[in-house]
Amino acid sequence: MSSDRVRIVEVGPRDGLQNEPYTIPTPVKIELIDRLSATGLSVVEATSFVAAPAIPQLADAEDVFTGIKPLDEVQYPVLVPNIKGYLRARQVGASHIAVFTAASEAFNRRNINCSIAESLERFAPVMEAATADGVTVRGYVSTVLGCPYQGEVDVAEVVRVARALFEAGCAEISLGDTIGVGTPRKARQMLEAVAEVIPMDRLAVHFHDTYGQALSNIYACMEAGVRVIDSSVAGLGGCPYARGATGNVATEDVLYMLNGLGVETGVDLEAMARVGDWIAGELGRPRSRTGQALLKRS
Ligand code: HMG
Ligand code: MG
Repeated sequence: MSSDRVRIVEVGPRDGLQNEPYTIPTPVKIELIDRLSATGLSVVEATSFVAAPAIPQLADAEDVFTGIKPLDEVQYPVLVPNIKGYLRARQVGASHIAVFTAASEAFNRRNINCSIAESLERFAPVMEAATADGVTVRGYVSTVLGCPYQGEVDVAEVVRVARALFEAGCAEISLGDTIGVGTPRKARQMLEAVAEVIPMDRLAVHFHDTYGQALSNIYACMEAGVRVIDSSVAGLGGCPYARGATGNVATEDVLYMLNGLGVETGVDLEAMARVGDWIAGELGRPRSRTGQALLKRS
């Protein structure tokens, strides 16, 4: 994997913060995004334009999005669940969005209150508007390696849903192990099955680290060819509709592994560790393993 390049999609300000139990002040969210943008990242997922009762923490999406100091070289995608969310996002100038559904009916029902088929129908007007507006759309498939409600998830269902999103016009498909139950061989097999219908360079992997498997899963998926990795500074995160699941894999830990492999990311690990140190302090959360070691923190 030497002389290779990976794109990190930093999801901390969205996936990382959406599950925090107390209301984080809007200026802290804005500062987090601006600090992350300064580390060399090319993508910082900023917030979600979802229904406030579903995710109260991100009810300040407009204020966050308009408060950041955007850099030309950084994309700031936002999650939208429906056309209402899309119009809100466009109103404040978002040019990159993400739609999200799941490979499990039970999870989808709780997360976005509809079936998989209905979610795809809901996205149709979003995709149509995005195409007309020149907006880039990422598609998320959740629960690709297991569901908190139904348990096992059929790989064929992951492939079907990923393909539907891709054929609907999503430029990139992120495969989410929402509850972090995956292990390397299963993760790789799932990715390879999806890569039979979608080009590998349009796929991303999104691992939560509940069982400490995320880095191993990423490595296994990189061996299969994936080069886009979602991660969250300080390993922040979780989903309110996936109780017990911990945060995303920590960006600092991913960078440390990629630096060791000689894989380029364009992101400054030391700078990322300082952002992780700062936000962990703000939220009273633990540092990443790499952050602790580099900054000699406990
Ligand atoms: P619903 O209740 O079925 O929606 O929720 P509805 O269309 O019936 O509307 C109900 C109310 O919400 C109405 O207001 C709408 O106007 C309002 P009322 O008339 O009652 O006053 N509403 C909205 N308000 C603001 N923005 C909107 C919006 N849409 C409706 N966009 C809905 C369905 C999808 C809206 C809701 O369930 C929702 O917002 N869910 C979001 C859940 C979420 O964000 N989950 C976390 C992200 S997914 C994730 O973390 C996984 C991922 O990281 C990958 C992985 O790890 O696997 C991506
Ligand atoms: Mg997630």
